[in-house]
Amino acid sequence: MSGKVLEINDLHMVYPGGVHAVRGISFNVNEGESVAIIGSSGSGKSTVLRCINRLIEPTGGEIHLKGEQVNTPHTDINNLRSRIGMVFQSFELFAHLKVLDNVTLGLRQVRKMSKREAEEQALAVLERVEMLDRIDAYPGNLSGGQKQRVAIARALAMKPEVLLFDEPTSALDPELIGSVLKTIRGLADEGMTMVVVTHEISFARDVADRVIYMDQGVVAETGPSSIIDNPETERLKKFLSSINEEN
Ligand SMILES: Nc1ncnc2c1ncn2[C@@H]1O[C@H](COP(=O)(O)OP(=O)(O)OP(=O)(O)O)[C@@H](O)[C@H]1O
Ligand SMILES: [Mg+2]
Repeated sequence: MSGKVLEINDLHMVYPGGVHAVRGISFNVNEGESVAIIGSSGSGKSTVLRCINRLIEPTGGEIHLKGEQVNTPHTDINNLRSRIGMVFQSFELFAHLKVLDNVTLGLRQVRKMSKREAEEQALAVLERVEMLDRIDAYPGNLSGGQKQRVAIARALAMKPEVLLFDEPTSALDPELIGSVLKTIRGLADEGMTMVVVTHEISFARDVADRVIYMDQGVVAETGPSSIIDNPETERLKKFLSSINEEN
């Protein structure tokens, strides 16, 4: 039986200004599972991911990674971030570093690998995202889709136990979205454990094992990806039809 990788228990986030963005969210992510989080703008999706990765400190609740609570004052944040990879909407590559060096940086600094070891591992993941032919390019000379694939390679290189994606395609031109989704879909097929916040409803339906629909800081509906075709709640029905109107 596959074990739980992430356990989120009664998570709350009240921002310093007083916005109660996340109001008691609980869910688990099992080994090899891909979970999609959908929901309208401002519903708290990014806040949940940022809490899991400790980019912000949740104001309540517990986060466990493979059974170990990781939102404690004693948690080593750098170690945690190497175990929980994150890919953002904007690629956040280092502009002054070539593609290869963007990927080796974390391996050398956090994993303390030798240059040779780090490069070997980096080349393997760059091949995985089909960027092997651009290892000497600077990010400024890549397309958005290529940059995002390098960002995915950088996260993958650390061999994280779970990968978090926050709208990985929403900053891309339409013609570049496909290559990034294909990469993420490949990772899901290979059994990577992942949580993907996405506006791409068809991607959530086709790729995710489970869908979490967030509304106003709570999980308003969750279930297998078939809930996208057969939503139970009025809230999810409305959300899905509002998305259809956009397209
Ligand atoms: N740094 C912050 N300080 C104060 N309030 C914030 C901060 N970041 C987000 N919020 C508020 O928290 C709520 C949830 O925001 P969040 O970014 O998590 O939503 P989201 O579901 O990711 O939306 P989107 O789909 O637009 O990315 C919103 O009301 C937002 O204004
Ligand atoms: Mg967001």
